[in-house]
Amino acid sequence: MFSAATLRIDELPAEERAVYETLKPERLPQHVAIIMDGNGRWAGHRSLKRFLGHQQGAKSVQLVMETASRIGLPWLTLYAFSLENNLRRPRAEVNFLMRLLKSYLESNVQRMMDNNVRMKYIGRTHELPAEVQEKMRWAEEATAGNTGTTLTLALNYSGRSELVDAFRGLFTEMKQKHQSAEHITEEDIRRHLYTAHMPDPDLLIRTSGEMRLSSCLLWQIAYTEIFFTERYWPDFRGIHLLEAIAGYQLRERRYGGLSDSVGEVEEDLDKIKIVTS
Ligand code: FPP
Repeated sequence: MFSAATLRIDELPAEERAVYETLKPERLPQHVAIIMDGNGRWAGHRSLKRFLGHQQGAKSVQLVMETASRIGLPWLTLYAFSLENNLRRPRAEVNFLMRLLKSYLESNVQRMMDNNVRMKYIGRTHELPAEVQEKMRWAEEATAGNTGTTLTLALNYSGRSELVDAFRGLFTEMKQKHQSAEHITEEDIRRHLYTAHMPDPDLLIRTSGEMRLSSCLLWQIAYTEIFFTERYWPDFRGIHLLEAIAGYQLRERRYGGLSDSVGEVEEDLDKIKIVTS
């Protein structure tokens, strides 16, 4: 948990601070996940090449990470590169994204240190190019001692492949322990996910107006509030994160239960008339 001493609200730009001041600090989400989408369209609308959209998207990553750390958001997860992106995009674009990731890490580790941000990854990262993995390890190790926001990049990730990996892990464990399938619990599956060390997201944001989950954290978002915005990722800034949090705070989370404002529930089924017409 963040203590008031680790918050850096005074470092927020004035417009972000104004939104922050409308928030209830005791109801801040613990974990926000973002599906960053719209880099290509952002570039296309400006008659620019797609790679410039990705480059500008990397700037948004930096700025949103900074706002998250200033407000004391413990977990920020960014869906940066899906397994499908890896398989279905032109090789030249995938190569560019890999180079961009490497140079992002190289030039942002100092900023992460300044912001007390810890770098983590989820996904089949062992399938990424060796030199990218090396840079990823370097950034993770350099920031491992930081105690503020944990920034997790989902890379070569998909929720379905994560579940396959979790079931494989669980199956291996069960074989070793000679356990049978009827003893499997939700907790067994949870602890074999890539995200076993973190809480489920409270809020999932998707940019660019697409209303899909695209295999993002499929198990973990069972009770997550979802916020869709038309804004393309390269235009997304800290203030938009804060606005999404403000919207989240207006929602009532019920986790499948009832709200406190619901009155008495009729227990005598014979008294209930079902109207069919
Ligand atoms: C979706 O836009 C975005 C991606 C596939 C890549 C996300 C990458 C970044 C935000 C930049 C680099 C990230 C880091 C962490 C340095 P799209 O290309 O699918 O856009 P479109 O749907 O408009 O074509």
